[in-house]
Amino acid sequence: MILVNQVKIPKNAKKYLNDCVESTWISGQGRYVEKFEKEFAKFIGKKYAVSTNSGTSALHLALLALDIKAGDEVILPALTIGSCYFAIWQTGAKAIPIDVLPDTYNINPSLIEKNINNKTKAIMPVHLYGEACEMDSILKIAKKYRLKVVEDAAEAHGAIYKNKKLGSFGDLACFSFYANKLITTGEGGAVLTNNKKMYEKMQRLKNLNFSQQKRFVHQGIGYKYELSNLEAALGLASLEEVEQNLSLKAQMANYYDDQLKDIPGIITPVKRAYTKSSYWMYAILVKKEQFGVSKKELMKILLNKYDIQTREFFYPPQIAFKKMNLYINDNFPVAEKLSAEGLYLPSGLGNTKEDFQKVVAAIKQIHADAKRKIY
Ligand SMILES: Cc1ncc(COP(=O)(O)O)c(C=O)c1O
Repeated sequence: MILVNQVKIPKNAKKYLNDCVESTWISGQGRYVEKFEKEFAKFIGKKYAVSTNSGTSALHLALLALDIKAGDEVILPALTIGSCYFAIWQTGAKAIPIDVLPDTYNINPSLIEKNINNKTKAIMPVHLYGEACEMDSILKIAKKYRLKVVEDAAEAHGAIYKNKKLGSFGDLACFSFYANKLITTGEGGAVLTNNKKMYEKMQRLKNLNFSQQKRFVHQGIGYKYELSNLEAALGLASLEEVEQNLSLKAQMANYYDDQLKDIPGIITPVKRAYTKSSYWMYAILVKKEQFGVSKKELMKILLNKYDIQTREFFYPPQIAFKKMNLYINDNFPVAEKLSAEGLYLPSGLGNTKEDFQKVVAAIKQIHADAKRKIY
């Protein structure tokens, strides 16, 4: 089976992990945690990093740092992972989804302003699949209405917008280091900021909110969101290979672009002069009329006939949270259409050129077969 995201274990992983075991530093404290936080903040271009046990907890911690609470509203895109909504709801605030742009799949800045009111506290742009949101427009709106910006750069390690790394724009920026990410700790995440007060607050909150003076005396409700020294050791080994990994992703995307761009009904990722995607995942749209079969059928044939795993896009909130009776009456037509037509192809750092060649050959064959009405 060709996996949608074959994991690549970094060269120094065993050495650093062994070091943790030998030294017995295996909890949320230790020199790898400190080093990984420092080096990661430096890589993105922010002053401080607070490591966490997931990207989801990083988002929650970022909103807590801003003191977001019940009665507040946070704006986010209608096409993203549930983590963004859960982080907002966990603070008691209301999530306000906004429809996305059809080419980048990211939040549509022209729809933001009409959703701002006196309860709005923050905007959470999500750089989906590693392609940048329109940061200039978003930052301009945030400045005009004095809103905070929490970037979700979980999928965008090393990606660029106008010569600056994603994650360096917001008041806070959140990353995931889940196993399928460009820099991984297995499970893990981080919040970056330039604000020392918020940095100190998050360091406290993520470890039970102990007061500075007395352990076991708490400044308020606390959380247990720490990244372990073991995970940070893996992260440091992974961070050492980030440039190599970014170039593997770029090669993968160039190959797919080249091979797929002329197949009728396959829409390849947007390319813009002022952005550089991290290509966390190579995402395509399938237009049934031109390609011959729908996205769902294509995914099924790839799996059953060619042993190739793919994955669907996220769902808009009216579908994702249907069981919770939320957003049932709201409508996000662009997100809904993208979700119906979008999938991502095998694009992990551990996937090989041979995997990509097999994927391309299978898609070409399926299109040819569909034209002959085989499906
Ligand atoms: C855009 C986005 N935000 C947040 C997360 C949450 O990260 P984690 O899985 O580490 O909790 C993910 C996970 O893939 C993600 O893709």
